[in-house]
Amino acid sequence: MNTAASPSDSPLVRAARGESVPHTPVWFMRQAGRSLPEYRELRAGTTMMEACRTPDLVTEITLQPVRRHNVDAAIFFSDIVVPLEAVGIDIDIEPGVGPVLDVPFRSREDLDRIPELTADMVPDITESVRRIVMDLGATPLVGFAGAPFTLASYLIEGGPSKNHEHTKSLMHGDPQLWHDLCARLSQIAATFLQVQVDAGASAVQLFDSWAGFLSKADYRQHVLPHSRVALAALADREVPRIHFGVGTGELLPDMAAEETEVIGVDYRVSLAEAIERVGADRPVQGNLDPALLFAPWEVIETQVRRILAEGRAAPGHIFNLGHGVLPDTDPVVLTRVVELIHEVSAR
Ligand code: CP3
Repeated sequence: MNTAASPSDSPLVRAARGESVPHTPVWFMRQAGRSLPEYRELRAGTTMMEACRTPDLVTEITLQPVRRHNVDAAIFFSDIVVPLEAVGIDIDIEPGVGPVLDVPFRSREDLDRIPELTADMVPDITESVRRIVMDLGATPLVGFAGAPFTLASYLIEGGPSKNHEHTKSLMHGDPQLWHDLCARLSQIAATFLQVQVDAGASAVQLFDSWAGFLSKADYRQHVLPHSRVALAALADREVPRIHFGVGTGELLPDMAAEETEVIGVDYRVSLAEAIERVGADRPVQGNLDPALLFAPWEVIETQVRRILAEGRAAPGHIFNLGHGVLPDTDPVVLTRVVELIHEVSAR
């Protein structure tokens, strides 16, 4: 539902700026993907990485949830490791597992094998974004990148990790190498975001999915400064920046110390508590627990109403889940949630 004349005047962008909105905007992390039968059909026979580099598929998959759910934004269909593959890193996305590498990155020689990302390495991303934006009209497209720490963890561990032991061991055992690796990854994330914005994305989100595994001290010293570089690279583009991490309740005040427009909140902290932690002058995004979409409708409705009420304490609220849509989620429930949010928050 978007009656705005242009994406820059849409409820999502207005909420991110703390401006008045006709209703609370809503989109869902992982709204494109396995919860949609039309996605599963389109993806059949193609690897995730191939799909991400094929503009026809990227465009159609990005638009599917917008058509079906009437959400207030599209999220660019890609993956946080696409820019790593684009610079020549041998990385795959395995179904049910996530990004995996045959040879993890752990030494100075490994780092030297990672070049900087330039826009001409991802012409397909520019093309996909341009096509999506043209089709979306006044509905905004959210571009994204993985934060340096989360990218570093995949590279160093060689895949998803429960404990991040190699990553933390490198962070503390060779801080200079850690710093140099993260500096390269923040350049890659920044360029990936810039490419999407320059092709027409109206907002960006930096995903730090593994940040919740860090102590506050490690986050401050070894991680946040690199995310800051990636976010600051967008400052002159004048699109709202959303900074989101998983399990980051304890880190919210540090995340809010950055100049980012919107703080994304995961589901482990109530939105009311999160607003206290980030300060009542900052728009927030979140934070329905994606597992609750499997609960009876009355439960979902109560939770949605509570989150909308709590969100009113912030100058802007973008409704979202506290993490991505789970693959077995009933898409009919997602559509109903969007309707409910629009109805309850209509002003
Ligand atoms: O709708 C959207 O959110 C759009 C696109 C999107 C994907 N990945 C598509 C995807 C986004 C924003 C991401 C980001 C991403 N990728 C993150 C950060 C967000 C988060 O969830 O914390 C992370 C950590 C990754 C790495 C990754 N890629 C994982 C953990 C997985 C899941 C593995 C699995 O199969 O369960 C992927 C694969 C992936 N990325 C899928 C999708 C739709 C599933 C691929 C498939 O359909 O087979």
